Formats: sequence, structure tokens, C-alpha cells
Amino acid sequence: MTAAPGGGNRFAGFLGDLERLVRDCGDDEPMLLGEGARLLRQLLRDEDWLPGDLKAAPATYAQNLLFCDAGDRFCVVAFVWGPGQGLPAHDHTVWGLIGVLRGAEDTTRYRLGSGDALVAGEKRRLEQGEVDIVSPRTGDIHAVWNALPDDVSISIHVYGGNIGMINRHIYRDRLPREIFSSGYTNDRMPNWWAK
Ligand SMILES: [Fe+2]
Repeated sequence: MTAAPGGGNRFAGFLGDLERLVRDCGDDEPMLLGEGARLLRQLLRDEDWLPGDLKAAPATYAQNLLFCDAGDRFCVVAFVWGPGQGLPAHDHTVWGLIGVLRGAEDTTRYRLGSGDALVAGEKRRLEQGEVDIVSPRTGDIHAVWNALPDDVSISIHVYGGNIGMINRHIYRDRLPREIFSSGYTNDRMPNWWAK
């Protein structure tokens, strides 16, 4: 099993805070997302806690599972985007927090208009340390791209479910919508509690 570097205990602390937050908030999603974003911003202050093998950019982007709650209440994933890599418009079907650990990401929001047509909304550049929110209640469709043309960007995502196993949608121009389940890139998770 991969041992997390010295900062791994910091991520273990984040997981503990997150678990308590999810348990205590219940259905209060605004409180959960507000406080969860604050916790995630703290985690983004440095990247020492993330093992190097989970920062490597493969030929396509990596979606590395860092932790999944046994009850599927939440999971934490590290996305590693190489230059030019990203995801076209897609949904999540659960709440999500997206924080940039290294580099920057460009995002475009979408909504469904008449006839299920995809309508582009706000464009935003997420810089290192910033957190964005998606939710079926407030807006769940976006496209995400590495904003750096010549370097890797890494983002840490927290989702309200086991995101790699959830059937969701890619939104292209044609109908019906494409259903996909992303899975995960890594086949092992670090031991965040290693001494
Ligand atoms: Fe997304």
C-alpha cells in the first residue's frame, strides 16, 4: 500500500472534519457546502500531503480516488489534468466541491433550455486555492479544462456520493444524452494514517 508522505495526517484530519460535517448537516446542503468549501480551501494551502504517484499526468487525465465513505455519503478525488486536457459538459447528480491544488482550471456553466438544448452560462477561471460548487439543486452541468497550456493542473474534488460508480451524463449537441460512469484511474489508495 502506498504510504502518504508526512502531510498525510493533514488529509486524515480533513477526512475527519468532512465526516463530522456530513453527519451533522443532514439535509442542510447550503451549510454543508459552505463549511465544506472552507475546509477544502484549507487543504489546498499546500500539496505535500498528496503522494507523488497520484500527481502524475497520464496520456488522458487521471481521476484518482483518495477516499470513499463506506456508506457512499461522500468521496474525495484528485484530478490530474495534462496540458489541453479536460471534460466536455457533464453533470454529477450529487453535490460537489472543486478546489484547485495546483495550476488553474477554466470552467463553463451550462443549463438546459427549451427542448433540452444546452445553454452556456458563466465562464470562470479557478485559480490555485479557489473552490467552485456544483449541485443538482443550484446548477450541476459544467465543462472543465486545464487552463495551463504547458503544465499540469491538479484539483481536489469532494462529491456527495461514490462519484466513479454513479451513472451520469455527457452533454453534447445530439440527443439522447450519453450516459457514462467514470470509474477511477488508480487501483490503490494511500494509507493516510501511516506513521
Ligand atoms: Fe465536473
